[in-house]
Amino acid sequence: MPTKTAQTEVAAAGFRCRGASASYDGGSGTPIFDGVDFDVRPGEFVSLLGGSGVGKTTLLRVLGGLHPAGKGSQVRFAGRPVTGPPDRLVMVFQNYAASLLPWRTVESNVRLGLERKVDRAEQHRRTERALDMVGLAQNAHYYPRQLSGGMQQRVQIARALVMNPDALLMDEPFGALDAITKASLQDALLEIQRQTGMTVVFVTHDLDEAIYLSDRIIVLAGSPAGVARDIEVDLPRDRNQVATKADPRYLRLREEIYAVMHSSSSRAGGS
Ligand SMILES: Nc1ncnc2c1ncn2[C@@H]1O[C@H](COP(=O)(O)OP(=O)(O)O)[C@@H](O)[C@H]1O
Ligand SMILES: [Mg+2]
Repeated sequence: MPTKTAQTEVAAAGFRCRGASASYDGGSGTPIFDGVDFDVRPGEFVSLLGGSGVGKTTLLRVLGGLHPAGKGSQVRFAGRPVTGPPDRLVMVFQNYAASLLPWRTVESNVRLGLERKVDRAEQHRRTERALDMVGLAQNAHYYPRQLSGGMQQRVQIARALVMNPDALLMDEPFGALDAITKASLQDALLEIQRQTGMTVVFVTHDLDEAIYLSDRIIVLAGSPAGVARDIEVDLPRDRNQVATKADPRYLRLREEIYAVMHSSSSRAGGS
């Protein structure tokens, strides 16, 4: 659970979606998703789970103000309608390698978003803290080419954290990593969320990843997609890669969500 102070800091940083839809042709054609209703409470870790092509990225981009919601949609962040990328909200994408500047060190890539926004001392302080949180304090002077995929993704997370966001939107951020690196990044993210109390909306197609990380899972299915299930993860907040996955509640959730994903994809014609 986030600390009380952290919760106060992000008190307004929830999302509300009512009747949300989106499409790609200026709104005239078939929507990708339609009638999507859910809330994300401040400080909550929510996963959007669904198969490839269901519309997870599109929905995340709508939440982050990068793609317009359809007519009649209500999409709010921190109580305000989302009309463009809101302040205090940061997105982390899967394609981390492409977005690091190769001629800048790790420290300098992370500091980039603060340049000309805050003074040098503040830039330094926040960059140091962000690198420390992702476990890269010792690698501050490396260049991107000297980093493994997992370390590059840690840099991306540090670039988000340095902005002190109230909410983090993540699109399959660990999708390209090997299993061991993925597990250690998952644990780092959980610890960061515990320390900061940030709201996290995390897109994944990986059922186990969704259960392991989340307070709640929203399963998307169908065409156009809708919310097939909105389910609380009733596991202790302190997660452990071995113990959590052996918990009978974990196994029950896994079975239940697997069935939802399977039956929904059959209804949608197996796509
Ligand atoms: N820029 C785009 N233009 C047209 N169609 C798109 C675009 N991006 C995605 N789509 C379509 O929208 C649907 C949902 O895509 P996406 O949100 O990327 O799904 P997911 O992230 O769940 O894999 C897919 O059918 C995809 O082909
Ligand atoms: Mg996607």
